[in-house]
Amino acid sequence: MGDPRSLVELTIDGNVVKVPEGSTILDACRREDIDTPTLCWASNLTPVNVCRVCVVEVEGSRVLVPSCSRPVEPGMVVSTDSERVRTSRKMVYELLASSVEMDRADASVHAWMDHYGVRPDRMGDRDEIATVAQPPKVQDDLYVRDYERCILCYKCVEACGDDAQHTYAIATAGRGFAAHISTESDVALPDSACVYCGNCIGVCPTGALVFRTEFDMRAEGTWDEDSQEVTTTVCAFCGVGCNLELHVQDNVIVKVTSPVDHPTASGHLCIKGRFGWQHAQS
Ligand code: SF4
Ligand code: SF4
Ligand code: FES
Repeated sequence: MGDPRSLVELTIDGNVVKVPEGSTILDACRREDIDTPTLCWASNLTPVNVCRVCVVEVEGSRVLVPSCSRPVEPGMVVSTDSERVRTSRKMVYELLASSVEMDRADASVHAWMDHYGVRPDRMGDRDEIATVAQPPKVQDDLYVRDYERCILCYKCVEACGDDAQHTYAIATAGRGFAAHISTESDVALPDSACVYCGNCIGVCPTGALVFRTEFDMRAEGTWDEDSQEVTTTVCAFCGVGCNLELHVQDNVIVKVTSPVDHPTASGHLCIKGRFGWQHAQS
């Protein structure tokens, strides 16, 4: 980001706004309280521009531009809610939801799908078109990879790699419709380079990566997010001071997340903070 004291003036949805140089259009929208959908973007990851659900119209640009990565420019004229933008965003959701199970996606994803009146059935009958349906990979006691819920947003790969963990245990493999997230040579997770930090779970927007506890409780029909309470505490395993959000259902910790806006860990943890909660309730 450029010198925060230099401001760039642009127009968004008819209003003249000034934002720090180096801001993205998405940053500018957020400052103006203009809600913008995102899937592959996260505040603690580098933008990868793969989902295109955040697109906006920029005057003079032939194509719609991804707001999450395009820096603002002086005099830019941006429309976030034109017919073209709405149609494009709706189409992205419809294409994804026609081939991927979106039922466990974040609440905000469902809110946007409702907002745009998304109808995946317009893409064809689920039983007749290609989908990514496949059995979940249940390979250890800590977490499950349920790739029929994967939209290939790439966030887990970034969290495992350059943006947080630097372990590079997972990457995209295959091409076109066969593209998928995989360990090296598709080995089982316990045989891979994975160190079980769970940072990939923390960023997954669709429930494709879940704690084993959540997976098992959903299978038993006992997972009840509405009854869960979240308590924030400081991890006691070492002196770094990562914040933990303990999700508690019926007095039992069922999963652990970390606040993305906390400066110590920016939402990322190690195996002890993420999965070492059993000692707290033993
Ligand atoms: S748990 Fe950590 S090391 Fe393992 S795949 Fe996920 S991000 Fe990578
Ligand atoms: S597993 Fe989740 S985070 Fe990884 S690419 Fe798929 S949807 Fe994105
Ligand atoms: S959120 Fe901008 S391209 Fe995915």
